[in-house]
Amino acid sequence: MRFDKEYFDAGILRKGTGSRKWDDENACPEDTVPLWVADMDFPCAPAIVEAVQKRAEHPCFGYNADDQQGTEALCAYWQRRHGVTFAPENTAQFPCVVTGLRVAVQAFTKEDDAVAIFSPVYGPFAASIKVNGRRVAAVPLIWGADGRYGMNLPGLEDAFRNGARMLMLCNPHNPVSRLWNREELESVCRLAAKYNAVIVSDEIHADFVYRPGQFVSMLSLPEARERTLMLCAATKTFNLAGLQQASAVSYSKELLEKINAKCSAAGVTSGNTFAIAAMRAAYTECDDWLDGLIDYLDGNRAAVVTLIGKYLPKAKVTPIEATYLAWVDLSAYGKTCDEMGALFRQNGVSLTGGTFFGTEGEGFMRVNFACPQRQLEEGIRRMGKALEG
Ligand SMILES: Cc1ncc(COP(=O)(O)O)c(C=O)c1O
Repeated sequence: MRFDKEYFDAGILRKGTGSRKWDDENACPEDTVPLWVADMDFPCAPAIVEAVQKRAEHPCFGYNADDQQGTEALCAYWQRRHGVTFAPENTAQFPCVVTGLRVAVQAFTKEDDAVAIFSPVYGPFAASIKVNGRRVAAVPLIWGADGRYGMNLPGLEDAFRNGARMLMLCNPHNPVSRLWNREELESVCRLAAKYNAVIVSDEIHADFVYRPGQFVSMLSLPEARERTLMLCAATKTFNLAGLQQASAVSYSKELLEKINAKCSAAGVTSGNTFAIAAMRAAYTECDDWLDGLIDYLDGNRAAVVTLIGKYLPKAKVTPIEATYLAWVDLSAYGKTCDEMGALFRQNGVSLTGGTFFGTEGEGFMRVNFACPQRQLEEGIRRMGKALEG
């Protein structure tokens, strides 16, 4: 099978499958084009479907043993695709990355400690800190004149100086689509070392990188080895979020032991039968599907800029280096995120408002472009109708 433009253009009908993106009546009423939640309107790779079907043919779904083969597949995948070497004993498994974020807060910090985040960032970062009784030290990213965001290192140093024990990093960064480079990551790491802080690097978007960009994992920095927990998942890359499977990786025995202790205390064990089957197939048999997907998304990345220019001439698209999420500045239209969200819904398109990512996101909307191009065009046309009339 060829995973080309024709394949991804075909998309897939998801309405009526219990999908949050399509079937949530409030966020996505009938006849709405959903460009919000970060999953993709494409079928997953056939090898994954076959693996799940094959497992389903054996009609017994009792407790699972540790999935050594799946973990080895994860290690081989990161070596092959990202040049990062680790072994099964460097890993732990969770139901999802957000579980990993929350367990990390519990494992590496104490009640009332501060945890630093670069803001705006994926909303569950701050939520994971707050729900565990810790304080959010939000460090605003630096917004450059060209619309590109940069790391606020003095702000991060202030947060550490004021007692933050941990940094929750998004690499690459959702929603501002930045691919952090080695130099930036080294600077973060130097500061973390100076203040003896732990780095939790959420690398769930690592596979969504566009040429000539090169993903750099925090784990690939020798100086980060002993203080970093990296979180990743096949679920984002291969569109399997409903199956619930994620991994944590660390070279530090101490960090992993702390994580495992908290998981064990909470009774968090991974091992969903179908997730195991899917993860193994994803990490071993689906590179061609993924390469085709990235090519298609690269086309959509260009299309977003063209379509926004056509339908929303006052908007500015943040340069997209990674992820399938465009961070669009609509502040020239003089409306809040809540006002725009309501207007967009009335006009049949749903998006994620910028304030979901922190107060710095006011006036922005995040557009998920992982869908067939015709769907993307229709959604952006409706955004234009809502704001331009
Ligand atoms: C940065 C980031 N981390 C985590 C998640 C959620 O991952 P999971 O579904 O494994 O909890 C997302 C989903 O969009 C994300 O963007």
